[in-house]
Amino acid sequence: MFVHQASVRGLCATFYSDEQIDAWVGHKTPDDYVRAMVDLGERMWVVWGGGTALGFAAQKGEEIRAVYVHPDKGGRGIGRRLLQAAEQAARAEGVRVVHLDASLNAVPFYERMGYRGGPMSLHRLQNGTRIPSVPMARDLAP
Ligand SMILES: CC(C)(COP(=O)(O)OP(=O)(O)OC[C@H]1O[C@@H](n2cnc3c(N)ncnc32)[C@H](O)[C@@H]1OP(=O)(O)O)[C@@H](O)C(=O)NCCC(=O)NCCS
Repeated sequence: MFVHQASVRGLCATFYSDEQIDAWVGHKTPDDYVRAMVDLGERMWVVWGGGTALGFAAQKGEEIRAVYVHPDKGGRGIGRRLLQAAEQAARAEGVRVVHLDASLNAVPFYERMGYRGGPMSLHRLQNGTRIPSVPMARDLAP
């Protein structure tokens, strides 16, 4: 199991059913991340330690597309550093406001990081399944 799957299975199960989690990461393969970078133009950051990925983030334009930390490595500032790297890249592209769809478990993390959210909505996964999430945004202006 790689870090994306480990993170979702380990940290999101309180808010999402097994079926939703399977639809979210069950089908993922390493090639999906290569495609996201090469074909979709996402930037990615990986925190690496002890020969394995401990977390990763992805950004494209004004959208933060992923921040995931291994469940054994939470609470050490990895998520913060990953999110800040993605925000910095967006800022360098001239983006003023970044957006993301927060998983329900991650809302307090993003609030702590300066994001504000709207009402809960349904996020459409690549395979068409919809799962609850909270659209959030942060103004990057100093
Ligand atoms: C959300 C997630 C990325 C946070 O990563 P992390 O490395 O544990 O977070 P950090 O240690 O960098 O925490 C940064 C700050 O947020 C706070 N924080 C993190 N998770 C929190 C939570 N669940 N509730 C309240 N505060 C939280 C930390 O206490 C810290 O605050 P501080 O400034 O007082 O130190 C991680 O829990 C995760 O991968 N979750 C599962 C995947 C997921 O849902 N990702 C988001 C997809 S939209």
